[in-house]
Amino acid sequence: MQIIRSIEKMQQLSKQYTLHNNEIGFVPTMGYFHEGHLSLMQRAKKENDIVITSIFVNPLQFGPNEDFDEYPRDEKRDIERAEQAGVDILFMPEQQEMYPQPMLIQLSLTGRTDVLCGRSRPGHFDGVITVLTKLFHIVQPNNVYFGLKDAQQVAVVDALITDLNFPINLIGSPTVREKDGLAKSSRNIYLDEEEREQAVWLYKALKKGQQLIVDGEQNPVMIVDEVTRLLKQHTTGKIDYVEVLNFPSLQPVTLIDRQVILAIAITFGKARLIDNLIVKSTGEIVEKFNN
Ligand code: PAJ
Repeated sequence: MQIIRSIEKMQQLSKQYTLHNNEIGFVPTMGYFHEGHLSLMQRAKKENDIVITSIFVNPLQFGPNEDFDEYPRDEKRDIERAEQAGVDILFMPEQQEMYPQPMLIQLSLTGRTDVLCGRSRPGHFDGVITVLTKLFHIVQPNNVYFGLKDAQQVAVVDALITDLNFPINLIGSPTVREKDGLAKSSRNIYLDEEEREQAVWLYKALKKGQQLIVDGEQNPVMIVDEVTRLLKQHTTGKIDYVEVLNFPSLQPVTLIDRQVILAIAITFGKARLIDNLIVKSTGEIVEKFNN
């Protein structure tokens, strides 16, 4: 595995791979790898000639009161894990090279952000699409891999690729969970023992909501109410949202007669946890997304 820190070097390498008809699979990350990240790298390995993973904790996507400074970092462990997952190139640019000066170009979304995490994290997804535009130009991938755990991010990247005509396939991959169902997240380390036990209720409540849809409930309000009730009953976390929306348009739904996302965000101390299920109108869980 090669470690590349220079943008110019990365661009040259990618150009060479492309000239030699090698398919490039790309997994952008902010590091501190867990099985969720590794599953994307392993999948990219199967489906491409070359796998490139980036680690860059992107300041533009953190709000002023968010955890940019404390965001967990462990470069040594990440290098080992990426290598084991079969990554060919680990791209780790410095902040100074990615943003040598304040950006003179501003990218901003006009949709898919006034709901879910976008509503409580203003500017977050603008920061995400900005760094991804830069990374896509640097890495020049054929296929990009994102986790459906961050389903709104997948919907936003779908819009980015379509609107800006990136010649890139977007692959949304299933959420990797702990044994008890809690979605793996770099932020789970913030949970104390009691919160960790309660956190399993994100998944349990989502599954209960999904079961209601399987049983024929088509009214999103009933689903949201039941999921909210369960979270309030079984956790001390502060609920940010429980929402049912169309996926990937993220438009409101009044009747569950097509594919929807049932999504939760809840805060325990400084750990803001999110989880979701994407389901068909029958309640069947959907674990893939392609543009
Ligand atoms: P990060 O939070 O490091 O996540 C990197 C990728 O791992 C994302 O596509 C995310 O959805 C995926 N992922 C995280 N937890 C997962 C899980 N439990 N199962 C499956 N996939 C999981 O998302 C970002 O970084 C940043 O916003 C980034 C896209 C890199 C832009 O800065």
